[in-house]
Amino acid sequence: MAPNFLHQVAFLLVLSTAVSSGYAWVGVNWGTMATHQLQPEKVVKMLKENGFRKLKLFDADEFIMTALMGTDIEVMVAIPNNMLDKISNSPKAADSWVNDNVTSYFTGVKIKYVAVGNEPFLKAYNGSFAKKTLPALKNIQTSLNKAGLGSKIKITVPFNADIYYSPDSNPVPSTGDFRPEVRDLTVEIIQFLYANNAPFTVNIYPFLSLYGNQDFPFDFAFFDGNNKPLRDGKALYTNVFDANLDTLLWALDKAGYPDMKVMIGEIGWPTDGDKNANAKNAKRFNLGLLKHALSGKGTPKRNGTVDLFLFSLIDEDTKSVAPGNFERHWGIFEFDGKPKYELDLIGQHKEKGLVPVEDIKYMEKRWCILNPDVTKLDDLAGSIDYACTFSDCTSLGYGSTCNNLSVQGNASYAFNMYYQVNNQQNWDCDFSGLAVITHKDPSQNGCQFPVMISSSSSLLLHGGLSEILKKALRVYIFVMFLL
Ligand SMILES: *[C@@H]1O[C@H](CO)[C@@H](O)[C@H](O)[C@H]1NC(C)=O
Ligand SMILES: *[C@@H]1O[C@H](CO)[C@@H](O)[C@H](O)[C@H]1NC(C)=O
Ligand SMILES: *[C@@H]1O[C@H](CO)[C@@H](O)[C@H](O)[C@H]1NC(C)=O
Ligand SMILES: *[C@@H]1O[C@H](CO)[C@@H](O)[C@H](O)[C@H]1NC(C)=O
Ligand SMILES: *[C@@H]1O[C@H](CO)[C@@H](O)[C@H](O)[C@H]1NC(C)=O
Repeated sequence: MAPNFLHQVAFLLVLSTAVSSGYAWVGVNWGTMATHQLQPEKVVKMLKENGFRKLKLFDADEFIMTALMGTDIEVMVAIPNNMLDKISNSPKAADSWVNDNVTSYFTGVKIKYVAVGNEPFLKAYNGSFAKKTLPALKNIQTSLNKAGLGSKIKITVPFNADIYYSPDSNPVPSTGDFRPEVRDLTVEIIQFLYANNAPFTVNIYPFLSLYGNQDFPFDFAFFDGNNKPLRDGKALYTNVFDANLDTLLWALDKAGYPDMKVMIGEIGWPTDGDKNANAKNAKRFNLGLLKHALSGKGTPKRNGTVDLFLFSLIDEDTKSVAPGNFERHWGIFEFDGKPKYELDLIGQHKEKGLVPVEDIKYMEKRWCILNPDVTKLDDLAGSIDYACTFSDCTSLGYGSTCNNLSVQGNASYAFNMYYQVNNQQNWDCDFSGLAVITHKDPSQNGCQFPVMISSSSSLLLHGGLSEILKKALRVYIFVMFLL
C-alpha cells in the first residue's frame, strides 16, 4: 500500500510540473541564412531571458552549439538534405556525423532530437530525396545506438504538410491521407519512428493557405473563431490549423498509427513581403496559436497540448524568395535582434514584451541614396536590378512596407540595401555616379531604410577566432612567465 501511495504522489508531482510549466512546450527555429549573423552567445542569452526552452536548428553550426554549452535549452540538430545521399549510403559517414555533431557536444548541450533532412518529400523537390531519407534515418539511429545515445536522443524527419491531403470531392480532415506517390515511403518512415518511440514532425503554415488561395476565409487562418465553422461529422473546425493537423492525424489513423506522437516543426507568420504579412497579423496569429496549443484543448481529434517550434527566431535576408518575398521576414525578431511585436510564451494571452538581443553595435548612421540632383533616370532600372540581386529588396514588392515609394525612392532603397549588406564600403555607393551617401535617415511612412549591424557584433569567423587566439596567447605568455 505505502509504496503504491508514494508512487501515486510522485506521479501527481510529475503531472503538476508538466502542466504548470506550460512554456516548456514552446520552441523556436533558428535559421542562419543571413548576411550578418548576430553573435550566438548574445542570441542564446536572449533565448534564456525570454524563456524559450526548446530550439530547432537546421544543421549543427559549431558556433551556435558552442554558445549553447551549459544551458538548459533542449536542442534539435539537423542533417541538411544535401547530406542525405552520403549518409544513406555510408554507415561510416553517419558515424562521423553523430560523432562530430552529437557526441562531442552531448556533455554540454541538451541535444534531444536529430532531424534527418528537412521537408525531403516536398513536391518541389521532385522526389530527389525520397529514396534517401529512410536509409539515412536508419543509419543515424544505428550510429546513435552505437554511441550509447539511442535512448536519450530521438530521431525525426520534419515533413512539409504537402505530404497529406484530403480529396477535393470531400475536403474535410476525416478523408485525409498521405499523397499517393509518397504514401508507402512515408508509412515505412512512420513505422521506423514508431518502433524507436520517436515523434512525427510536420510543418504547418496557415499563412500559406491564405497566400495560395484568393477565396480562403481570412479569419479561418487565425484562432479567434470569428468565421463560419467547417463541419466534419460531429467535429466543428474554427481554424485551419486544427483542420490541417487533424487531416494528418486521420492519415496516421488509416496507416495504423492512431497514437503516433506528433510535433509541429515549424509554424509562424511573416511580417513583410505580402499584403497579409505584417506585424499585426503575425502577432494575432502567434498569440492565438500559443494560447490554443498550450491550453490542452487540442484539436477535435486529439486532446492535449501541442508541442511546437515557432518559425522563426530572426529574419534571414539570404533565404530563397522562390516561394515568395515573405520568406525573408518570418522572424519574431528583426535582423538586429529587436522583437517585432509582443508575445506570450506561456499561452495566457497576456502580451509580454520580449527581451531584445542586447549590446548590438551598428555601423555608422549613414545611408546610400539616389543623388537628388540626378535628372536622367534612364539607366536606373539596371542599377536597381543589380543592387537588388546582391542584397534584399523584398520590402519593395506589392503589399510590402516600402511598396509606395516613387521611382527615385525605389532606387534609393535598393542602393542602400546593397551598401549596407556590403558593410558601407564607399565604393559600394556609386552606381555609375547615380548614388550619394547621406547622414539623414531616408526612412518614411513605415518604410525602414536599415543601418546594418557592424561586423564586431556579428559572427565573423576571423574576428571570433582572432579573439580566441589572442586570449590563448595571453594565457600562454602568462604561463611562460610563471615558469
Ligand atoms: C557536422 O555538421 C556540420 C554543420 O552542419 C557539417 O558541416 C559537418 O560536415 C558535419 N560533420 C560531419 C562529420 O558530417
Ligand atoms: C522539378 O521539376 C520542375 C518541372 O519539371 C523543374 O522546373 C524543377 O527545377 C525541378 N526541381 C528540382 C529540385 O529538381
Ligand atoms: C477531449 O476531452 C473532452 C473533455 O474532457 C472530451 O469530451 C472529448 O471527448 C475528448 N476528445 C478526444 C478526441 O479525446
Ligand atoms: C500604398 O498606397 C495605396 C494607394 O494609395 C494604399 O491603398 C496603401 O495602403 C498604401 N500602402 C502602404 C503600405 O502604405
Ligand atoms: C518600385 O519597385 C516595386 C518593386 O519592384 C514596383 O512594384 C513598383 O512599381 C516600383 N515603383 C515605381 C514607382 O516604379
